Amino acid sequence: MKIGILGGGQLGRMMALAGYPLGLRFRFLDPSPDAPAGQLGEHICASYEDAEALSRFADGIDVATYEFENVPTASAAAIRARVPLYPPPEALATAQDRLIQKNWFKTLDIATAPFADADNRRDLERAVADVGLPAIIKTRRFGYDGKGQFVLRSWHELDAAWKAVGGLSAPDGKLPLIVEGFVSFQRELSIIAARGKDGATVFYPLAENHHRGGILRLTLAPAPDSDALQGEAERMASRVFDALHYTGVLTIELFQHEGKLLANEMATRVHNSGHWSIEGAVTSQFENHIRAVCGLPLGSGALKAGGGAGVTAMVNLIGDTPEPHQALAHAGLHLHLYGKSGKAPGRKLGHMTLTEADLPALKVRLKALAALPGVELPGVATA
Ligand SMILES: Nc1ncnc2c1ncn2[C@@H]1O[C@H](COP(=O)(O)OP(=O)(O)OP(=O)(O)O)[C@@H](O)[C@H]1O
Ligand SMILES: [Mg+2]
Repeated sequence: MKIGILGGGQLGRMMALAGYPLGLRFRFLDPSPDAPAGQLGEHICASYEDAEALSRFADGIDVATYEFENVPTASAAAIRARVPLYPPPEALATAQDRLIQKNWFKTLDIATAPFADADNRRDLERAVADVGLPAIIKTRRFGYDGKGQFVLRSWHELDAAWKAVGGLSAPDGKLPLIVEGFVSFQRELSIIAARGKDGATVFYPLAENHHRGGILRLTLAPAPDSDALQGEAERMASRVFDALHYTGVLTIELFQHEGKLLANEMATRVHNSGHWSIEGAVTSQFENHIRAVCGLPLGSGALKAGGGAGVTAMVNLIGDTPEPHQALAHAGLHLHLYGKSGKAPGRKLGHMTLTEADLPALKVRLKALAALPGVELPGVATA
């Protein structure tokens, strides 16, 4: 069986790494000549809008999927006309626009921060008045790693905010924005779930996520003290699954706020906060995604360590990476390098995972990793 993946970044690369043991073959479409997945599969180097390239991509593959959600919906439709494409293109359209997504969450009774939309500078003022201060202003489309966002704490900053999100260079002074109430959350969590073609579902334990500078730095899985929240998170994912007749892996980023869960955003794909599952779970998010799109039975998402005990940390390598001998000198550590060349500020170049029997033991181990290049551990791991 041959799988076509739209996008050839590290997520596509790790999907292929999970699929090769199952005897599967892979083809990638990615405009970047040095796409990380290109090192381990056939790489069509072309734009996602290139009709001829899309046709070559679809030629001879059995099923298609994607590893990032900004695949143009028209391109997704063109692929789907040729081969099955999972998750469904309807999921893509919902995932691509923060406003459409939040409105849609509402219809599914999934709680979010208060929000309002804005299309120009005057709207922005009205939207901020609607949700109140502090607020966070985001471009509706194409944001990632906190890009295109501004946290507004006072009315004086409105001009600065409009400028920061790109308002000054917007054609006709129009820019599609969403303004959200700023949630003073207790912590950030995510639920990753997989749904097979037969409707069978697998849920991973909630993960606790720590960001710095808008970029995920550290994930702990399972999230400490999250048992009471797991059911609520699974219900949210199930509603999305049912509404979209979903096949594949889905991620919902969550805020824990006043003991409840609010959905921040969803990703209709495998997710950075699920990388821990490669070593930490019985079946990784990548393998389950591949199994789902191929119509194979899903594997358990339960923890691998000690029959359900233990906690795994996933540490992102951002902008720089340790030498392998340096990282692997830490007993039990697993290193993943994505095959991107050189240093690159703010870019995800790899990650490391480490499992320990309990959180205190894990924190001791994490402290020892804090000095490695590319590692920045927020308070939780260094205090
Ligand atoms: N309404 C909010 N209240 C408080 N913090 C927020 C809010 N929205 C976003 N944030 C913070 O900003 C981070 C990035 O926001 P969001 O997930 O919407 O954007 P993104 O650029 O798509 O991020 P990523 O690519 O890392 O998932 C969140 O993980 C959270 O820390
Ligand atoms: Mg996010």
